[in-house]
Amino acid sequence: MKFYELTPEKRRDYLISQGIDLDDIDEITLHELDSLSENVIGQLRFPVGVVQNLLVNGKSYLVPLATEEPSVVAAANHGASIFAKNGGVTAASKRTGIYGQITLQVDTKFDASELSQLFPIIIEQANSQFASLVKHGGGVRQIDLQQKDDLVMLRVLVDPAESMGANRVNSILEFIANKLATFPGVVDKLFAILSNYPSQFTKAQVELDVATVGGVKVAERIALLSKIGQNDPFRAVTNNKGIMNGVDAVLLATGNDARAVEVACGVWASEKGKYSSLSQWDVKDDKLIGSLTIPLAIGTVGGSINSRTDVKQSYRLLGQDITSSELANVIAAVGLANNLAALLAISTTGIQAGHMKLQAKNTVANLTATSREKEQVRQMMIDKKEYSLAAAEQFLRQIREGQ
Ligand code: MEV
Repeated sequence: MKFYELTPEKRRDYLISQGIDLDDIDEITLHELDSLSENVIGQLRFPVGVVQNLLVNGKSYLVPLATEEPSVVAAANHGASIFAKNGGVTAASKRTGIYGQITLQVDTKFDASELSQLFPIIIEQANSQFASLVKHGGGVRQIDLQQKDDLVMLRVLVDPAESMGANRVNSILEFIANKLATFPGVVDKLFAILSNYPSQFTKAQVELDVATVGGVKVAERIALLSKIGQNDPFRAVTNNKGIMNGVDAVLLATGNDARAVEVACGVWASEKGKYSSLSQWDVKDDKLIGSLTIPLAIGTVGGSINSRTDVKQSYRLLGQDITSSELANVIAAVGLANNLAALLAISTTGIQAGHMKLQAKNTVANLTATSREKEQVRQMMIDKKEYSLAAAEQFLRQIREGQ
């Protein structure tokens, strides 16, 4: 039997027989994971933390964040608490659809305008073939055509309703491509696949009283940092990394495709012809005004969302009936919260003060010590502002020697 044909237990037995020490995993989890991917032999764990009170469009959310980076959850909570003091975040999502591409090779008999005339019929046929999507409020919305020599490129806009839509869109594209293959002059279908180009945009905005961020001077420094990020790609990419710290963490916790959102945000950040910050902060009339617009091809159903117990827990935190637009609003709001917390730290005390305190927890986890000793070491690291593993080991020795 080939490795991929084995049960996950047998794959593990094989690896153990090769001398590899595998971590324990319970049978139910192993089989749950085996249904999600291939050659499964184990799991990788992420801590899930929560943002306690993210106020978006007047509603308070408990938001799950899956991340291993210390300080991301703390930063999101810090930003969210400042937002809450100022009436929260206003957010709106335009879920007009995601794009798909069909590329055909054609000969001289091909007439683009004749094919374009068929688009309304093709849209109707696709929508009746994929009637369940239409029933959920989605469907094929538009087809555009461009021809370059013997290549005809079709861009198909599909509204995936409450799902992210990758699978559905690909099925629809293949259905349409097969229909087009018989059109006079079409020699070959080259490919039919969704495009991860930015779409499904969400905008989150806040208006903060400058007093709630430490006064007008701090607010002005934040606005200046933001301006630098608009022009300097070296700063912009780091600013955006701080935003994605929060965005990716919610995407992971909610079973969404973080890779798809990451690539789209990268393209979107270069939309003005130069890579720049996704967020913007300005000071106006004693208010610090922040906004973030990002493409969020996400869903609350479909993919692996319904089959993962860990992900289902996230929806119990967020609210079972959360819509995809609402979730997108929450994700953009978390991104903005992480961004504010980072800019606030950078423009005042610097990031390391808070970061290292949280990192200390991570460092003491490497010690062979009791939980009580680890906590004592962590406190000593914070008190003495010494955060290396060597310092932690030294503090542990001191504790044990009773000093
Ligand atoms: C660290 O993960 C993220 C930050 O570097 C973001 C920023 O600089 O804006 C703190």
